[in-house]
Amino acid sequence: MILVTGGAGYIGSHTLISLHEAGYEFVVFDNLSNSSKESLNRVSEIIKKDIIFEEGDIRDSVSLERVFKKYTIDAVIHFAGLKAVGESVVNPLEYYDNNVNGTLVLLSVMQKYYCYQIVFSSSATVYNEIDSDDYKALEENDPIGNTTNPYGTSKFMIERILHDLHVSNNSFKIVILRYFNPVGAHISGTIGEDPNGIPNNLMPFIAQTAVEKREFISVFGGDYDTDDGTGVRDYIHIEDLALGHLKALDKISTIKDVLIVNLGTGKGYSVLDMIKAFEKASNKQIEYKIVERRAGDIAKCFANPSYAKDILGWSATKTIDDMCEDSWRWQMNNPEGYVK
Ligand code: NAD
Ligand code: UFG
Repeated sequence: MILVTGGAGYIGSHTLISLHEAGYEFVVFDNLSNSSKESLNRVSEIIKKDIIFEEGDIRDSVSLERVFKKYTIDAVIHFAGLKAVGESVVNPLEYYDNNVNGTLVLLSVMQKYYCYQIVFSSSATVYNEIDSDDYKALEENDPIGNTTNPYGTSKFMIERILHDLHVSNNSFKIVILRYFNPVGAHISGTIGEDPNGIPNNLMPFIAQTAVEKREFISVFGGDYDTDDGTGVRDYIHIEDLALGHLKALDKISTIKDVLIVNLGTGKGYSVLDMIKAFEKASNKQIEYKIVERRAGDIAKCFANPSYAKDILGWSATKTIDDMCEDSWRWQMNNPEGYVK
């Protein structure tokens, strides 16, 4: 049985479908702080099976222990955490508590119940910024840790904790997945990303503008050192990302050291590329205005995905058009998200 912390969230819910399709049994543990049970109901409809759900907080060892006593947990996929960069600057203690402390509690309980396999959701945000002139695709052994906000620092700290844990107890099999920019939705259009309030991220903002929930998109900066002057990112379809977790689980029992893998496509697209692709997918004109750069943003960020291919046999297959079409289907069918 796989324990999926944060399984009701955006990436977690999509990964449940891949787990089911691959024949894994799983239990979801989530405090629903940034999600609703409706996402699990929808997943249940897609996979035509009830989902085992235990509501609880990863910082609460009593609730976690209850789960480890009730089920035989072979491995954990650890998605639970807070992820809004701006909010983390305003509430750093909440971020360190949820992400770092929460992970410490989870790891202690895992150790107590002899569960030693964990796949952890890290982020491209842990990499040090590279000057635009010397830009190259990011590789797993590039320098990390020069983070610019508490969210990124929390991911960096957890990576360090996982390394130290492995040194102390090499029964632990640990895979750290560094995601680039997950976007898109399940092809059914019934599950997808449902941010609270005004979206921070580009793709949900574009989608909400296309359904006329927002008037226009503010493009943060038109003077970056990129082809069209707008920021370039490595957008990865959520279904490709979900499959990366399966490949990690397939591999995990055989690894010796902590395995760190980028999950990205290796291709960079600008903000304007994404707006154009979404216009094509939705057949809507999307208004935008170029405004000031957003504090903390960088010009370019994309992965070298070759290690993922070598070590996991995984590579992304979906295109930017797939990402936009699937996001659009989800947004059109659910303009208010999962009405919570
Ligand atoms: P999400 O907010 O949709 O999902 C996270 C889930 O964790 C939510 O269901 C939330 O209710 C739950 N949760 C939060 N704190 C919890 C706690 N203390 N105890 C129990 N449950 C808790 O986010 P997501 O986009 O699905 O991200 C999943 C993971 O991937 C996060 O760790 C995030 O930092 C990481 N990540 C996300 C992105 C991205 O752009 N979406 C990029 C890189 C890394
Ligand atoms: N952008 C806009 N307007 C918006 C929102 C975003 O122009 O309204 C631009 C940004 O400036 C950036 C690009 O769109 O150039 C992507 O921005 P996102 O906020 O969607 O994503 P980020 O690359 O800033 O960060 C995301 C997640 C982080 C994660 C990081 C790397 O939010 O949690 O990817 O994985 F760490």
